[in-house]
Amino acid sequence: MSEAILLVGGKGTRLHPLCTYTPKPLLLVAGVPLLTHQLARAAAAGVTRVVFATSYLAELFEREYGDGSGLGLELVYVTETEPLGTGGAIRNAARHLTCAPGEPVLVFNGDILGGLDIAALRDGHRASGADVTLHLTRVADPRAYGLVTTDAHGRVEAFLEKPERPEDIVTDQINAGCYVFTRSVIDGIPEGRVVSVERETFPGLLETGAHVRGVVDRTYWLDLGTPSAFVTGSADLVRGHVDSPALPGPPGDALVLPGARVDPLAVLSAGTTVCEGAVVDAGAVIEGSVVLPGAHIHGTALVRRSVVGRDAVVGEGTSVVDAVIGDHAHVGPHNELPAGVRLDCGVRLPERAVRVSAPTYAF
Ligand code: GDD
Ligand code: MG
Repeated sequence: MSEAILLVGGKGTRLHPLCTYTPKPLLLVAGVPLLTHQLARAAAAGVTRVVFATSYLAELFEREYGDGSGLGLELVYVTETEPLGTGGAIRNAARHLTCAPGEPVLVFNGDILGGLDIAALRDGHRASGADVTLHLTRVADPRAYGLVTTDAHGRVEAFLEKPERPEDIVTDQINAGCYVFTRSVIDGIPEGRVVSVERETFPGLLETGAHVRGVVDRTYWLDLGTPSAFVTGSADLVRGHVDSPALPGPPGDALVLPGARVDPLAVLSAGTTVCEGAVVDAGAVIEGSVVLPGAHIHGTALVRRSVVGRDAVVGEGTSVVDAVIGDHAHVGPHNELPAGVRLDCGVRLPERAVRVSAPTYAF
């Protein structure tokens, strides 16, 4: 018996407009919800029971996973009517844990793709007698994360969430969003109010001399919280750069889900996924992108490193690069969207409405 708490209440703001109707952890990554990859790995590591800490679009999680028997897990859903922050969510979810105060509880951010050995993190925590163990990783630009400094024995010295002053960026070691808490430590988080585990709980524990361990892991790691990370993560799964027991097919250059229709004269590459019910016409070129269910890419369109939303349309000869096209948006033929554009759900662009060189365009 091994229990975990899954933090899945965030609004996915940085992915806008992708999370308008779908919470970030349920967005399809290599054809299955991001969370399914995480849950499959947790189950493989011996986790048996998971408490979902939900808030934004809460009901969709239970609709997707039910009691969890499909994944070999027992799932429990807890909803915050007002988001309680990461620490408040962990405290609130802990009411539904069944383990004893001295037992380890895994906690996961719900937007991480990675190759961490979860069982080793939990077992190492138990053996060390620590209060909390943090999974750490190293990134080129740590500013968007929680910075964690450790001593020579792996004991955490400081935790600084998203530092703003350049002089505070003293390490490239960051919080990777997976923790093991000794349960009694969770029970010590204040109840019934907003708490940030990163800004309040961890710094507070360090101040009181608690034993907080950091374990640096160098396997694949990515937070899929931005559009570029999202398409990168999906493409890396498709190409087998990161292992997932939930990948719905063998690794390769592209993944076409059953029920998708891709013309043999379309060119899919660089880890592109075409989801169920999507249609890709002859002559379309799709590179490193995610085409969500029911979307239609017309002939000679170019889609590169982009996400095309559910039931969205990309017209003939249109080019879409580093873009996010919202669900049900309709981009008419022969448009050239500016790189990095985000088109809201349901927006309609007529034929030849936008050229990159055009001085103005309306979205
Ligand atoms: N239930 C609940 N309630 N969940 C929440 C809430 C809340 O109020 N706020 C955020 N979450 C969930 C999100 O759904 C996500 O799964 C997780 O908590 C982390 O939130 P993000 O919004 O993705 O945070 P971040 O990426 O900016 O930063 C976090 O992750 C980094 C690693 O990817 C922090 O933990 C950083 O310290 C860390 O480096
Ligand atoms: Mg995140």
